Amino acid sequence: MSREHCATLYDLPSLYDAVVVPGPCESFYRKLACSTGGPILELACGTGRLTIPLALEGHEVVGLDASYPMLRAARAKAEAKRAKVEFVLGDMRRFDLGRYFALVIVSCNSLAHITANEDIVECLSRIARHLVPGGLLAFDVVNPSMRDLAQCGHTAERSETEPDRSYVSGSKELIAYDPVQQVQILKWRFEALGRKIPPVAPMRLRAYFPQEMPLRLALAGLELAARYGDFDGRRFIGSSPNQIYVARAARNAS
Ligand SMILES: C[S@@+](CC[C@H](N)C(=O)[O-])C[C@H]1O[C@@H](n2cnc3c(N)ncnc32)[C@H](O)[C@@H]1O
Repeated sequence: MSREHCATLYDLPSLYDAVVVPGPCESFYRKLACSTGGPILELACGTGRLTIPLALEGHEVVGLDASYPMLRAARAKAEAKRAKVEFVLGDMRRFDLGRYFALVIVSCNSLAHITANEDIVECLSRIARHLVPGGLLAFDVVNPSMRDLAQCGHTAERSETEPDRSYVSGSKELIAYDPVQQVQILKWRFEALGRKIPPVAPMRLRAYFPQEMPLRLALAGLELAARYGDFDGRRFIGSSPNQIYVARAARNAS
């Protein structure tokens, strides 16, 4: 298969589900959802890993994603589990749902798919416009490691969640990193017992450094409420695996 015709990981939702199995982020976001109540919007909701459990807990949930195959898989899973979720095909850089939410979630480093500055500015300001006064935005992005970014050709086993190794395992190789644009190109390789896994197209992911997110949130009119270094709520430090942000919309927002 030529490189141009390579599927992306998000064209292959069953592969995605085999690699990204339930992880600690779920209980973090579920607890937060209990504190805010609904309605809840998950941007880049994928195959419903979060939206479906949230809906089963009784929340009113909308999930937006840019990938039709991921959404089709999400709809099928929701139907099988009798979970009521409204799934919307859309781009988180320029969505307008014409309604307000108590909580907006962007999980699993999904904001890293937004690589251009103007797009992240637009996305955060649209999120702010979709929040009720005092509503929360919660998201996690990877905490970039300078050592890893400096090592092109370095291969790492997937570590954010533990793959179901009886089915498939994944490793990622950093092919290139542009320190000016803060964009890395990663190549995923998947192996499965007894099953052929098609190669997937390299992924472009933005590296967001710790000082820029609080500033970006403030520019979008969101007040930083908490920043954690992992999903158990540990304090964010330089070696934390993740940057997990909770930000609040102004209470007097119109
Ligand atoms: C790492 S997956 C996360 C899926 C889900 N949140 C989860 O936790 O399993 C990233 C998702 O972002 C979606 N995505 C990428 N760019 C997007 C965009 N501009 N707008 C909306 N969704 C996007 C992809 O289709 C994919 O489903």
